[in-house]
Amino acid sequence: MAIDMQRSIRNSMSRHPNILFRRKTYAIRRLLRYALRKMPQTNGKSVGVPRWNDFAQFNTQLQSDGYVFVENFLSTKDAELLRQNWPKNRYFTPIAKNEDHKTSDKGLLCDSGEPSFDTKRNVAIWALYQMFLSKKFTDEVSKLCRDGIDRYPYHLLSQNSYWGSGLAPHRDSEDERFKSKLNFIYFVESNGTGWEAGGTAMLKSNSFDEPIFIPTNLNNSCLFYYSETELFHGFPPIKFGKYRKNVIAHFCAT
Ligand SMILES: [Fe+2]
Repeated sequence: MAIDMQRSIRNSMSRHPNILFRRKTYAIRRLLRYALRKMPQTNGKSVGVPRWNDFAQFNTQLQSDGYVFVENFLSTKDAELLRQNWPKNRYFTPIAKNEDHKTSDKGLLCDSGEPSFDTKRNVAIWALYQMFLSKKFTDEVSKLCRDGIDRYPYHLLSQNSYWGSGLAPHRDSEDERFKSKLNFIYFVESNGTGWEAGGTAMLKSNSFDEPIFIPTNLNNSCLFYYSETELFHGFPPIKFGKYRKNVIAHFCAT
């Protein structure tokens, strides 16, 4: 859960013209997307589990800074395949009427390895989730953290962000159930860079005034950070005409 946010930032995010319009039209958007999901559709062509480029060598940086930003996260071929087969809008839930701090559409949830969506119609995203869930990947995460704690992805989701989408700077709350959390924000595709297009930044405080790190390249790049760090994370409203597609993988101790 997001904690320590500034009320003024949340308020201004919820009142952004595009966000306000989408909040007001939530019911109709939701109904329409639900109806589209129910229509007959062809299943996607099968896609292999993507290959990632090794990242365990960033251990020292993760320990010293609490986060690491990696470019070329997936192999070029697999990153392109995912971009071409990104899920249709209908599989994302529109931002809710009362949403004020996480103003992106989200969907394709997978809790403890159980997908809550039709995997046959979303083969590429399911293949990516299987990569996160694989023993080989979780072994690499263990090598990255080198703290003797094995982690698994207890929660996976995808997001679509557009003009006005933002994330109010916050920290993640500590959790009784999920310990030693590490989050991966995988930037699949964007038509912009940095804060103009939703580059989730690491911040010193709960405002956008003291950024520590703002990712520039939002195409096939990944930010991972210890969720229980003292640092804040967030991004200001996306500029007009820009978009971002991303996946989030939450890992915790097994
Ligand atoms: Fe968060």
